[in-house]
Amino acid sequence: MPPLTAVTITPARRVRGRLCVPGDKSISHRYALFAALAEGSSTLSHFAPGADCRSTLACLRRLGVDIREEPAGRITLLGRGLHQLSSPSAPLDAGNSGTTMRLLAGILAGQPFSTTLTGDASLSRRPMRRVIEPLEQMGARVESHGGRPPLTVHGTALHGIAHRPEVPSAQVKSAVLLAGLHAEGTTTVVEPAATRDHTERALVAFGGAVHVDGSTVSVAGGQRLVAHSLSVPGDFSSAAFWLVAAAAHPGSRIEIEDVGLNPTRTALLDVLRRFGARVTVERTEAGEDSGGEPRGTIIVEGDRTGSLAIAPEEVPGLIDELPAVAALAAQGGEVTVRGAAELRVKESDRIAVLVSGFRALGIDADERTDGFTIRGTASPRGGVADARGDHRMAMAFAVAALAAAQPSTIEGADAVVISYPDFFETLERLVAPLDELGAP
Ligand code: S3P
Repeated sequence: MPPLTAVTITPARRVRGRLCVPGDKSISHRYALFAALAEGSSTLSHFAPGADCRSTLACLRRLGVDIREEPAGRITLLGRGLHQLSSPSAPLDAGNSGTTMRLLAGILAGQPFSTTLTGDASLSRRPMRRVIEPLEQMGARVESHGGRPPLTVHGTALHGIAHRPEVPSAQVKSAVLLAGLHAEGTTTVVEPAATRDHTERALVAFGGAVHVDGSTVSVAGGQRLVAHSLSVPGDFSSAAFWLVAAAAHPGSRIEIEDVGLNPTRTALLDVLRRFGARVTVERTEAGEDSGGEPRGTIIVEGDRTGSLAIAPEEVPGLIDELPAVAALAAQGGEVTVRGAAELRVKESDRIAVLVSGFRALGIDADERTDGFTIRGTASPRGGVADARGDHRMAMAFAVAALAAAQPSTIEGADAVVISYPDFFETLERLVAPLDELGAP
């Protein structure tokens, strides 16, 4: 298929269907990294198909990890153990993926060689001091471009530290814990607010030990990791766009099977209930290959549109869903988000890009330093919204544009390859066009 670049969204008043979403991106990155550091061969199924996790696999190959890809999202990695990665002959390219760059920086800090990590234009603008500082405290030296990529990580023998990150970040926590596995002594992270805990669960799945006490997470250095075969649950953050589309359009019903239900990721479900949707969750029993990650089926039925205020303390549990939450109000209702300045340093400045995209679609939107307010009307005008290279912006604009009075165009729609390559094909399958329902 040629690159999408611009996609036209036909208005629809309802979404209906039962589906699976691609494998979770955050979990796939971690399973690939731990499989590489473990001893033996691990097979990962339902591995995330997007470009971000491909970047992680490409970097691991350059570090000497043998990776075989089979059809249907199955990959097998032959782990090299904690200290047997090889020095790459050229810089490693993390592409658009902050998780790839930050987590790999943690691993590379403990290797006996130096590695340069580069990224695309978006990643090259993102802040890296948050990982550079703790890794330097542990003994590594990291060169950067004024705190931004490219990073050159000069690995060395590390020692454990206790680190208190200023912002809640699972990527920072994970980078420090991964470095901690290579360090002498114990490494501790005290989080300012709980963030996704996939690294902690994955470490246990690969035979390691982690100690969690409230917001304090510790690992001991020098552990041995063992290969394990695991299946990745569907990505809750991808599912979020369909759950929101159903909640925003009364009369809709979406069922998503085998999706991740890790409680550090599912705060959106309560938000949808507060907005006025009916939400049902059916948990499935955990199998041998579940890696300690709960999963199940989520059903959302749109009932009424409401008003929502997202408080600062809710933000860490919703960080990747906030673009979708903005789209909730596209067809009526109001959504205000506060305490979310972190959105400005994601794949794009998500506050600025969201507000300008929603305005371009004829939806009333206000920008603040740390958030935004979106006020919907029953049928916004529609228009041309630019995703500015950000996958979650493309998907949020597409969902918001369903509510419009006329077809809209999403520019830069090909950004969905980062996390959800089939997003637009799936959208076509789930929508009921206006003319099928009888135009209002
Ligand atoms: C991620 C953590 C979050 C999230 C990102 C993926 C992860 O970033 O926004 O999409 O996999 O650890 P921060 O931890 O920097 O907030």
